[in-house]
Order: sequence, then structure tokens, then C-alpha cells
Amino acid sequence: MLRKLLVVLLLFPTMLSLASPEKDFEQFVDYFKERFPNTPYEDYKNGVYSIDKSAREQWEAMEEFPPYELNVDRGEELFNTPFKNGNTYGSCFENDGIGVRQNYPYFDEKKGKVVTLEGALNECRVENGEKPLSYFKGKELAHVSAYMAYTSRGNKFNVQIPNTKEALEAYENGKRLYFTKKGQLNFSCADCHVYQTGTKLRADIPSPAIGHPTHFPVYRSGMGRLVTLHERFSGCLNRIRAKGLPGGSDELNNLEFFTTFMSNGLEVNGPGSRK
Ligand code: HEC
Repeated sequence: MLRKLLVVLLLFPTMLSLASPEKDFEQFVDYFKERFPNTPYEDYKNGVYSIDKSAREQWEAMEEFPPYELNVDRGEELFNTPFKNGNTYGSCFENDGIGVRQNYPYFDEKKGKVVTLEGALNECRVENGEKPLSYFKGKELAHVSAYMAYTSRGNKFNVQIPNTKEALEAYENGKRLYFTKKGQLNFSCADCHVYQTGTKLRADIPSPAIGHPTHFPVYRSGMGRLVTLHERFSGCLNRIRAKGLPGGSDELNNLEFFTTFMSNGLEVNGPGSRK
């Protein structure tokens, strides 16, 4: 109880008129270290399996024949299929788009906003005269993203937050969304993924907040398809009977910015598999 209160005091955004993302990060890491002393930091990339041994064994068995293999192949094919003008996705990215997943999201100072990998893919399409794609339902965007994550496995996230008003605001907005109670059930993301982490909620154990973006997109066996990070964020909003937010919205981009900063130092291990 005391610890919970302390964390509320330390992390709750109203306390943070003076933003210090680095301090937030330290407090997050310390909190989880105390809560799960047997989980090494690097292991948070494995989500709930970093804290739940029996679920981990089932998952490791599943990963022997990864259910997303065909999706990665399909993603590679789409990635290499030219647009009508002859360019490919790779033409919009550093190193032709290979091994760059960890560079996203970043704060683009010229645009004054956060750019995610899916956002950059859609921008690439528009620049090449194609229509932007949906983040939902596991279609082309999720496949290309899965392939790009796959080529980046083992690279580490190191999100930087420029010391400018706009960048700090984007971070604060993402953080605020994480800690604000919402929906008919009146839960915040943090209620489940910080305070109730590791506690059984019906059939599920909510994973720790650290490490959420590392393995996305994720193949969900229950749905039989890929799910992007933004679709998952929106799904968790629906779960607490709050309105979902559109993929690629500023709100979800900022949320991704916040949660990826909280995963700095972890490896890209997408795509992942989950129930
Ligand atoms: C009522 C509790 C609850 C709330 C509130 C909640 N979640 Fe979840 N969330 C879960 C559970 C349970 C799962 C499935 C188990 C797990 O964490 O992998 C999950 C899964 C996730 C995942 C996938 C994790 C993975 O490794 O695949 C992400 C990302 C996520 N939630 C983010 C959020 C965000 C962001 C919010 C706030 C908008 C939020 N959640 C609110 C309970 C919750």
C-alpha cells in the first residue's frame, strides 16, 4: 500500500510540471526491480513471460514453430513490391529499411511531432502517390512492420527526447494518457500494467509496462493474425470500455513515444507471439 502510494506520488503526471523523462525512467526501472527482483531488465522485452514462469514455458514451446513466420515472409514480399512509380518502401528509409526498427518512434523537430515506424511507412506511401493504410486488422502495414522488426532483432531501443517544449509535451501527453483513468471501468493503463502487474485479472496477467513495444507487431493466436501496437493500445482501451483511438493519431503516437522511452536499452524482438 505504502509503495503504491509512493509510486502514485512519484509518477503521477500532475506532480510533473517539471518534466524529467530520465527521472521517470529511473523510477520505473527501480519500481519493477523491487517488484520482480528475479527478472533481469533485459527480459522485459518478453512481456508477461518475463514474470510468469508457467505461461513462459507454453510460449517457448510455441516459439519453436513461430506462428508469424508466414507473416514475415508476406511482409518481405510486400516490402519489396514496387509502388506504381517503381519505388519501394526501402527507398524512404536509412539502410533501405533493413535493421532500422529501433530508430522508431522519434520526435521529428521539423514536423513538431512523434513519428512511428507505421507512420513513416504511410508517409512513404503518400510521398510515392499511394494511399495510406490502416493500422488495424493485421493487413499490409502490420506485415511490412513485422518484416522490418524481424530484420532488426537484437538492435536496441534508445529513444531520445529532445530538450524542446514540443518534444517534452509529446512525452508528457503520452505519459498522461498512461496514468489517466478512463472508460466505464475507470482504469488507467498504469492501474493494470504498473500497479496490478503480475496479479491475475480473470484469465490474464497484465504484463509490466516496461518492454511493451519491443515485440510488436504481435501474432495473436486467439485472433489468428497480426496486431499492431496501436491496435493493441486501442484494444486495451476498449477493454475498460473507453473509446478506442485511431491508429496513427497523435494520442497513440505520443503513447508509443512514452512507452518506448520506458523500454530504452531493450532489444527489438518483434514480431512476437501472444495468445
Ligand atoms: C483492466 C486491465 C488493463 C488495462 C486498464 C489496460 N490493459 Fe493492457 N493488457 C491487459 C492484459 C490482461 C493484457 C494481456 C496480457 C499481457 O499483458 O500481455 C494486456 C496487454 C497489453 C499489451 C500487449 C502486451 C504484449 O506483450 O503483447 C499492451 C501493449 C498493452 N496492454 C497496453 C495497454 C495500454 C497502453 C493501456 C492503456 C490505454 C492498457 N494496456 C490498459 C490489461 C489491461
